[in-house]
Formats: sequence, C-alpha cells, structure tokens
Amino acid sequence: MTRHTLPGLVDVHVHLRVPGGEHKETVASGTAAALAGGVTALLAMPNTAPPITDGAALADARRRHAGALCDVGIFLGATDANAAAAAEAAGGACGLKIYVDETYGPLRIETLPALAAHFAAWPRGKPIVLHAEQVAVATAIGLGATYGQHVHIAHVSRAEEIALIADAKAAGLAVTCEVAPHHLFLTADDLPALGSFGLMRPPLARPADRDALWAHLDAVDCIATDHAPHTREEKLGDRPPPGVPGLETTLPLMLTAVHDGRLTLDRLVALTSTTPARLFGVPTPDESRVEVEIGPAWVLPERGYHTRADWSPFAGMTVRGRVRTTTLRGAEVFRDGEVRTAEPRGRVLFGGAAG
Ligand code: NCD
Ligand code: ZN
Ligand code: ZN
Repeated sequence: MTRHTLPGLVDVHVHLRVPGGEHKETVASGTAAALAGGVTALLAMPNTAPPITDGAALADARRRHAGALCDVGIFLGATDANAAAAAEAAGGACGLKIYVDETYGPLRIETLPALAAHFAAWPRGKPIVLHAEQVAVATAIGLGATYGQHVHIAHVSRAEEIALIADAKAAGLAVTCEVAPHHLFLTADDLPALGSFGLMRPPLARPADRDALWAHLDAVDCIATDHAPHTREEKLGDRPPPGVPGLETTLPLMLTAVHDGRLTLDRLVALTSTTPARLFGVPTPDESRVEVEIGPAWVLPERGYHTRADWSPFAGMTVRGRVRTTTLRGAEVFRDGEVRTAEPRGRVLFGGAAG
C-alpha cells in the first residue's frame, strides 16, 4: 500500500441543481460529495431551473452558493437570445456553456446565427464549453477558430471525436477537452446490467470508443466528473433523465488506473487538478491537499454516498484507490468517510465583476 499527497481536484463539470433541483442535489450535499471525492474546487453547470442565463440569475445563484464546502465557480448558459446579456455578465462566471445537442434541461441552441452571436460577443479569455457530439464537435472547433475563442469540448466520448480534437490541437487551434470517468470505465455492454442507471448524454459508447479515449489520453486536458445527480425514483420512472453522479467515485477509479499502470500519478494530477485550474483560471487555495491510498482492493458501494442521489453506476466495481483526507485552507474537512460541515471553507469564485 502506498500513500500520496495530491493537490485538491478541480472538477470543471458538476451539476449542483441549484436553483430548482434541490431534491436531486443541494449546495451542501453536492459540495460534501466533492470533499469526499478529494475535489476542492468545482465548476457548476447552468442547466438549473430556471437556467442561469443573465447577470440577475448569476447573482442569485452566487448568493445561493455561499456556504459551499468547497470552492465553486458558476457557468452562464447560452440561449437563442442572450448573447449580449451573457457577455455582459461574464465577469462573474467561470465560462459560457453551450448545449448544441439534446440533454437534460431546457438549454439548447440549434441555429447558426445564435451560435455565431455567442462566439462573437463572448469576451475572449474565458472558455466557451460545449456539449457537442459527433459533427457538432467540428462546428464548435470551427466557430472557435473563426472568432478567436478558446473552445472546451465537454465529456468527449467517441473515437472520432477525440481523433478530431487531437488533429485540431496539432493544427495549433485553441481547443481543449475533458473526458468523464463513465466513458473511460463503462461501455454500452454494461447497459443490460445498469438499466436506466447507465443512461447519460453522451450515451455509453462502444468498447472501441472507450479504448480510443485511453489511447488518446495525451489529447485529453481534464478528467471531469459530469456529476449529474438524479434520484433513484426518477431513474426508475417512465422517462428517466440522463445523467449519473460521479464526484465520489472518480478518484478511486482513476487511482485504480494508476495502480494498473495505465497512467502515472503525475499525469493524473495534471488531468484532475493543475490543467483544469490553469484552463479555467481557478485559484489554488493555500494549504489544500488530498491524501490518497493506492493498493488495497475494495468495492464501490450501492449507497452511503454524500450526494443526495446516493447511487452510483460504478457500484460493485472493485477499485484500488481511496481518498483518506481532504484539507482546504488549512482545515481537514474530510477524513475516512466523514465530512466536516461545521465551518464552510468554500468560496464562490470569479467575484471580480458581477459578484
Ligand atoms: C446532464 C444533467 O443531468 O444535467 N446529464 C447528462 O446526461 N450528462 C446534462 C449534461 O451534462 O449534458
Ligand atoms: Zn452535457
Ligand atoms: Zn453535464
């Protein structure tokens, strides 16, 4: 067994469901799950109810996230009509999120004029993150090159997508991307066993896609959880919403990959902490770290997580890594399964302009 001290993770893709989805996740439960997973800063997605699409909604969301247990940045969401309003409020956000393909929530842009308006108006220097699949990845890269924007492709899942992104990087374009653990550790072959608990967007892909993500890991900038909590009841209902929780299982899974020699610990730190922090301008808090252990085998449980969703698509998997402690700003905020919530140490980030 080996113990290692890592910088706190920076997770650039988390759904906290605030406002409007607090039965799925609250700021308290979601940021507790973050600390349990070794995450000291997360970036929260704007597909809330109502969605976060202008300065007033962002200011309201920022207030609701005060008291977070880890640092939180908040995205603005793009609509057909808010290019100017989003650009104006950009100072208080970590970036702009554009949903080009269908997923959970009402945010979606389908027309070229609306996409182009956002790429033209958004201030340069903060990433434009896209839920873009298949040919939409090419659309995103082309718009980024045209308007001089940093484009970040969320949850890349297919072989042809990571290959295109690798080629775009080789051509010198300002394109970065993230991969989610469910696309690295699960495939459509797991769907019969998982049922609706294996449904998410982008969907679980072919084993060849999973293998391509591992083979192209050099083209991947971040591992992000896409922590997308929905309740068990919702997942078992008639129209199960897409999305799976991931904050508490990502480090155990990725440390297992380190244990198995699939990547180095240094590369894991780059993928989960230093590179996401640099790309999104997330400050590194003093005296913050995660102690992990690699070696002993244990099985990810069915329940007992800090996330309000309290289930995992990875339940039953044997892993070889564990988070022992998480320290934020000098205080040990998580140890051996327990989160200390008494004195919140988190900050709402990007307070500069709209905060
Ligand atoms: C996400 C959600 O539930 O908000 N669902 C998902 O399947 N990934 C939305 C998203 O990230 O696309
Ligand atoms: Zn998405
Ligand atoms: Zn998401």
